[in-house]
Amino acid sequence: MKLLSARMFARVIAPSPRLIALVALLVALAAAPGAWSAPAPIVLTGADRRPATSLNGEWATIVDPYFSGLFSFHHQEKSNGWFLNRKARPGDPFPTEYDFSKAPKLKVPGDWNTQHESLLYYEGPVWYERDFTYQPRERTHIFLHVGAANYHSWFWVNGQKACEHEGGYTAFNCDVTSAVHAGANFVVAAVDNTRHEDNVPTLETDWWNYGGLTREISLIEVPDAFIDQYDLHLSRGEGSAIEGWVHVAGSQPGAKVEVEIPELNAKTSADVGDDGRAAIHFSVEGLKRWSPDTPKLYKVAVRAGQDSVDELMGFRTVETRGTEILLNGKPIFLRGVSIHAEAPYRTGRAYSDKDAETLLGWAKELGCNFVRLAHYPHDETMLRAADRMGLLVWSENPVYWALEFDNPKVLAKAEQQLDEEINTSRNHAAIILWSMANETPATEVRTQFIETLASRARGLDPTRLITAALLVRGEGHTKIVDDPLGKALDVIGANEYIGWYEGKPETADVTKWQIDYQKPLIMSEFGGGAKAGLHGAETVRWTEEYQADIFRHQLPMLNQIDQLRGMSPWVLMDFRSPNRPLAGIQDEFNRKGLISEQGEKKQAFSVLQKAYKDGTIGKAE
Ligand code: GCU
Repeated sequence: MKLLSARMFARVIAPSPRLIALVALLVALAAAPGAWSAPAPIVLTGADRRPATSLNGEWATIVDPYFSGLFSFHHQEKSNGWFLNRKARPGDPFPTEYDFSKAPKLKVPGDWNTQHESLLYYEGPVWYERDFTYQPRERTHIFLHVGAANYHSWFWVNGQKACEHEGGYTAFNCDVTSAVHAGANFVVAAVDNTRHEDNVPTLETDWWNYGGLTREISLIEVPDAFIDQYDLHLSRGEGSAIEGWVHVAGSQPGAKVEVEIPELNAKTSADVGDDGRAAIHFSVEGLKRWSPDTPKLYKVAVRAGQDSVDELMGFRTVETRGTEILLNGKPIFLRGVSIHAEAPYRTGRAYSDKDAETLLGWAKELGCNFVRLAHYPHDETMLRAADRMGLLVWSENPVYWALEFDNPKVLAKAEQQLDEEINTSRNHAAIILWSMANETPATEVRTQFIETLASRARGLDPTRLITAALLVRGEGHTKIVDDPLGKALDVIGANEYIGWYEGKPETADVTKWQIDYQKPLIMSEFGGGAKAGLHGAETVRWTEEYQADIFRHQLPMLNQIDQLRGMSPWVLMDFRSPNRPLAGIQDEFNRKGLISEQGEKKQAFSVLQKAYKDGTIGKAE
């Protein structure tokens, strides 16, 4: 009998996570071979700060409008679908009617719509395949990290289902430990951006439904006990105490967690409890608080056992006091602009540092200290850039217009996306506002739906402010903000289009505002369209002069609103929208940008810039 080597002996005594996962899979498959269920993906806070094996680059793709790669002619999920990445063999008793090795390539990250003219309008499933080599280490978990995939996505590694995910704007991580092996591997993804009524967002949006693997993809390897989520923030009120928690998946109660800020000579440790969490609270000397004027970031090491995450983050407090917003205890006015994640110049879904630097660079040039990232969670690259450049952020869950508010499945989807948004991005000093929704109808069922989300967000993160962009109603020349949802919010957002969808620009001069809440108000949208370079009388729509005139009348009106504590006019840059076909003017772009998608600044840019730089707009208290 062959003697067992020490290593083999160790394996018999303490089987590795890989072996456990493999056995669990075999048991599941034995139980129901067709049941292609896979563990739900998880959220990894600070995933972009971890060492990773990038899977970005060219992926083979097959457009599959009838989804025949996954569903049979009787619409049953196939067990021999294209996820097997099968190659035809001579003598096969059946045809193999796809071959990724011969398929065209698309870049990842990147939407498919702007990479190939024939795909600009395409809504449906697209298959992606990529080969990679890997050397797994012992006693580790391997996660397939997906920055975002719009809208519904499925992932397989070496033919084994890794995960399924719904939601196009949040990151998720699929455990592929049992599927990855040493040497050559392949990953297959199916991404379907077909719009459905019960999606979040639903059928109608005023932005292009860019499909695909729109953000970075990588493999992240962590020890068997690893830090999956953590929250570190400056406690309100007190001088400088940092508090929060660190959750360690797969840890033993009593295991140690450490948090260190070397630059401040500050270090603390805490024990993990039964729930895998270690509570953090320690005082620090000499901390420089983060603010738009001083966007100070600190290296923060979070350690637990074999695992560690090296964060780069700022510390600040945000709260309200009556109708004021206090940043680090001082009243602040949010000089902002709204931004879609549309890539400048090349168009398509933004994802890169360069995209973020360009968009936020323009916002800084405008004189902003605040940006509303609409209408869905933006990329971590954008949030890191906001931390670095000193821009406060409104981050929004894509509860947009008229969802199926009476459908519990839709609520569950909105909750899942909210959890992913908050748990992924909770350590960005820049984010001060979680927005629950935009322009939803003031019905009872809608209010309950969003109140549920708002209390969930408060439970997940009591350190930030909850808001939403509300529709306003009018009586004569009075605009009234009394949507019942306002009760559930810390800060009221309101959208109005005086001078564009209603009235003339000068109508603003005679408009009064009635705000039924003693809370800070942010005018989260106002503005009008203009084709860059189109000039004429200021009474002529679509000219730069007309758009500039809207702003010239809006600013004094807004200055009349006592509790106005911020604004984010619509919108920094023109963006692609299926609702905007006006030939020669819109050409499928929403033209309310202060800058065109080709970087041409319109007159309104200078009107707002002057007001922001002269400080003639807004009162912090
Ligand atoms: C709405 C909406 C935006 C839209 C804008 C517009 O208020 O929130 O998503 O793009 O108006 O009509 O331009």
